[in-house]
Amino acid sequence: MITRRKTLKGLGITSLAASLPSIAFSQSNTTTSDQLNPLKIPVELRGELNADLNTPVRQFQLTLQSGSTSFFPNVQTATMGINGSYLGPTMRFRRGEEVALQVQNQLNEPSTLHWHGFHLPPSADGGPHQPIEAGQTWNTGFEVVQYAGTFWYHSHMLHTSGEQVYRGLAGLILIDDNEQEVELPSDYGVDDIPLVVQDRRFDDDGSLLYMNRYEDLVMGMHGETILVNGTRNAFFEAETRKLRLRLLNASNARTFTFAFSDDREFHQIASDGGLLGRPVAMTRLELAPAERGEIILELAPGEEVKLLSLGKPNNFPEFDGAMSEIMRKLNTQSFDILQIRAQPELRDSPEIPEQFNSIYRLPEAASTNTRQFLLSMGSGMRSGEDRGPGRGTRNGNGGGYGGGQFSINGRLMNMNFVNERIELNTTEIWEVRNNSPMMHPFHVHNGQFQILDRDGVAPAANEMGWKDTVKVESGELVRIIMRFTDFTDEENAYMYHCHILEHEDRGMMGQFLVV
Ligand code: C2O
Ligand code: CU
Ligand code: CU
Repeated sequence: MITRRKTLKGLGITSLAASLPSIAFSQSNTTTSDQLNPLKIPVELRGELNADLNTPVRQFQLTLQSGSTSFFPNVQTATMGINGSYLGPTMRFRRGEEVALQVQNQLNEPSTLHWHGFHLPPSADGGPHQPIEAGQTWNTGFEVVQYAGTFWYHSHMLHTSGEQVYRGLAGLILIDDNEQEVELPSDYGVDDIPLVVQDRRFDDDGSLLYMNRYEDLVMGMHGETILVNGTRNAFFEAETRKLRLRLLNASNARTFTFAFSDDREFHQIASDGGLLGRPVAMTRLELAPAERGEIILELAPGEEVKLLSLGKPNNFPEFDGAMSEIMRKLNTQSFDILQIRAQPELRDSPEIPEQFNSIYRLPEAASTNTRQFLLSMGSGMRSGEDRGPGRGTRNGNGGGYGGGQFSINGRLMNMNFVNERIELNTTEIWEVRNNSPMMHPFHVHNGQFQILDRDGVAPAANEMGWKDTVKVESGELVRIIMRFTDFTDEENAYMYHCHILEHEDRGMMGQFLVV
């Protein structure tokens, strides 16, 4: 061994290997090739504006289609997309305008498109109650009342959301606001960069694997390959001193802990529903599936830095033997997300103010009603079974986790059962408790809420803004507060659910009417 090493060193081979580490040790296998690819930027779609009306209307045409996408050199992967083969265009809405959306389904299966994070009439929501049959078209629309921010749209088909989003049915929506006074990097694809981050699992032939492992039923679908805007091994060349990165965790089940390779500080400026009260300095940003975070990254000329996702410390609660091991393995994995290369000369960027428009915090005293939601796993229920009102699961540890059973208040999603009726123009506190061994990202339709506290403690500064999805850790009680305004409907419900899509598809969802 020693002799051999000496010999190699004598031949100058170690120094060659050291200077070309990735090339020297990468395999010829396409799936492990280390070659970097330029980050794809989703096409912007501004719609067709009809400004003659009282309220200007922007018209968008979206087509759900199947196609094939090249993630690996010379390999085609069967995928789904919107106006393209994988993912969809970035739609730009403007606050105060109306949007008219025409969605044509050219897939050979039913699907939906849901506008995630929007305050809108439930019939326009695009949830499981608005399926678009194969070959059909859905026309809908609503007024954009939201603040400027980063939103998204995705399939919300009952039982198949997970698979359809996994194959590509998702895209971004950016809301612009004429009234917004803050100057931020806003040159799309130049210093204002959308980052749709997803993990995927590929077979040796390049096809997407979905739910082919036993643990996927419990943990939700995780993969080992990172795609950013559908790009594997992505790099981006920066031309400006600051980059605004609009991060969307569009994974089915994986939570990312974003950080940079040199552990530098960055600032989060926006959460799910728009700008925070002020930029928040941090070195780590954790985003669960469906959560968004806009961050400002500062660069020095010529430098290279990597955006990473860091594995979590190995301190997960013990449950169900083998499953604990798998959970540890999944949660402690780290990934390269995006390599960023700053050009030798960088253009100046706007100063980021220390304070944005301060966020109005909904006062706890405004609430006239409190509801409780218990997130559980392993209740022993069979899929599709409805236990009837009031017969909740007592605890989540009874039935083992193998079957992948997920419930809210002891119930599985049932299209014919309205779980909650809420009175219009009221403010409510929802207490969301998790008695399962996993974190669940809890999402509520119909707009944005605020987090009151986690186990009685006020949330961190970057969780003080508007949110539509909130992590509820194992054993945790999270209280959120929200208003129910503008739209009533006796028939069309809004949904609330876990945004781990395999949990949602398997029952961890409920519905509410605003009346
Ligand atoms: Cu992002 Cu009910 O969904
Ligand atoms: Cu939603
Ligand atoms: Cu869940």
